[in-house]
Amino acid sequence: MMAEPLFDTTEFRQVCGHFPTGVTAVTAVTADGTVAALTVNSFTSVSLRPAKVLFCVTSHSSSFPVLTTSDRIAIHILSQNQEDVARRFATSGLSGAEKLDGVSWVPGPDGVPLLPGTPAILAGRRDELITSGDHVIILLDVDHVHLKPTTVPALSFYRGRFVAPSDAIAE
Ligand SMILES: Cc1cc2nc3c(=O)[nH]c(=O)nc-3n(C[C@H](O)[C@H](O)[C@H](O)COP(=O)(O)O)c2cc1C
Repeated sequence: MMAEPLFDTTEFRQVCGHFPTGVTAVTAVTADGTVAALTVNSFTSVSLRPAKVLFCVTSHSSSFPVLTTSDRIAIHILSQNQEDVARRFATSGLSGAEKLDGVSWVPGPDGVPLLPGTPAILAGRRDELITSGDHVIILLDVDHVHLKPTTVPALSFYRGRFVAPSDAIAE
């Protein structure tokens, strides 16, 4: 039997939030055309050959059933001038289609929504799903990448806030 931890969920979140991350916008489409759109900072690259990446999604999100049955997923690495997209895609209570209504997008391979203003995009097919606690790790076999030259730095998330990489954090 596992011992009860000596910390609560809030403290755990605060400690994990001290790790600064980039911010991605994930979109997905199922065979019947249902779309998902959500903000994700649990993205990481996994393998170079073959090209694989992963992200984690909570099983409580409304995007979860779409992501776990989707044919195709796209991951957009957001820049600082896309904070509005990150905020919109993190809004609970909106469907994927409603979130996409507020942003500029085009259909990509198999109809997966692509956000053309994004400096770096990876798209591919869902590989393995690994359930761990209240999240599922989604592995993606990447078959499309797109780079758009930009001088705008990446959007970052640190201690619960969107920040510019050089921003000082007020106490
Ligand atoms: C910066 C940031 C990063 C996030 N990263 C994740 C993540 O990695 N996995 C996740 O499941 N939710 C993450 N979220 C929360 C989802 O974006 C949010 O719950 C969203 O509303 C899910 O939408 P849905 O309930 O419509 O699916 C993040 C939110 C923010 C603001």
